[in-house]
Amino acid sequence: MQNEQASYIAKPLLSWYSQNARDLPWRKTKDPYAIWISEVMLQQTQVVKVIDYWNRWMNLFPSIADLANADTEKVLKAWEGLGYYTRCKNLMRAAQVIMEDFRGEFPSKPESISSLPGIGPYTTGAIGSIAFNHSLPLVDGNVERIITRFLAIEEDIRLSKTKAKIWDHCDDLIKFITNSELVNREDIFGNMNQALMELGATICLPKKPDCKRCPISLNCIAFEKKLQNKLPVKSKTQKIKNIFSTSWVLIWNDKIIIEKASDKEWNSGLYRFPTVEERERHGPLEQLFEKQWNFIPSNELVIVGNLRHAITHHRIRIRVVKIALTSKETKNLANDSNIWATLNKIKDLPFSGANLKILNTIDYTL
Ligand code: ADE
Repeated sequence: MQNEQASYIAKPLLSWYSQNARDLPWRKTKDPYAIWISEVMLQQTQVVKVIDYWNRWMNLFPSIADLANADTEKVLKAWEGLGYYTRCKNLMRAAQVIMEDFRGEFPSKPESISSLPGIGPYTTGAIGSIAFNHSLPLVDGNVERIITRFLAIEEDIRLSKTKAKIWDHCDDLIKFITNSELVNREDIFGNMNQALMELGATICLPKKPDCKRCPISLNCIAFEKKLQNKLPVKSKTQKIKNIFSTSWVLIWNDKIIIEKASDKEWNSGLYRFPTVEERERHGPLEQLFEKQWNFIPSNELVIVGNLRHAITHHRIRIRVVKIALTSKETKNLANDSNIWATLNKIKDLPFSGANLKILNTIDYTL
């Protein structure tokens, strides 16, 4: 991006941001730890939802030391419902690295920030610019949209070549600020990056961008060429696959069987209800039960819920099946991974998205 184009963005956008920035709790602090947590949460979830999660998290684990020393299940529970649990585990690992290698103080050097587990260029740019006012660019989905529209970039934004180009443009914008009188303003780099993201989140929306209210539409090439609804160009991802799953709620007295995902499994450390997956349709219930548990149950199998759940590239239809086992039958269940737990205990343990929905279903039917 040329200096002239950068100048069309910088001042109007900063001035717009100073008047229109949303009042968000993590914007009231300069604590890099608090900003880090907000940025990782914001990578996968809408701002409204993050506010509650962030407030709760900061109450439970107010400092890096609290997080580093916390019980893993308690931390996963605080993340429950946000998805991408690896990110949560990386937060814990990074907190431990900060305790060991940086004497418990969040590092300020960009190289040290990016050396932490789970921290890539986006998070380094966000923490570096917002908490330390480093002259670092950042690119997220919002920024991609603004830059491709402002400069009318028509290449597929899924390509790494296009992504690299967008990072370069943002780098140019940051360099322009570094060499202008704007550099003397307080929090300038954090504000510039947040202003870009804020514009993307509130005005330069994926569908129906509100160009009339946009502070930089005057020089936006997509706006001039009426391309704003066609950009960015994003190639289609893989086709969505269907999964038909059956989750078992096996009850004996006041206890239910759950499993914990092992280290090698997806969502490791999280709990789930035992589940079978099928590709075409839900198979006959009794046969499925016998195949999974190796006996024919004496009590009735009751379908207590039919749920839908969407994850990346998959659409899952979940049939929730409840059955009360007899004492004799529980002895047949020779599986090391089965854990018997009361509903109260279960509610304290971390479950992932689909299983949280199942938990809600059975809460009403038990
Ligand atoms: N999205 C992610 N981080 C953000 C921030 N700091 N401000 C606005 N939108 C964001």
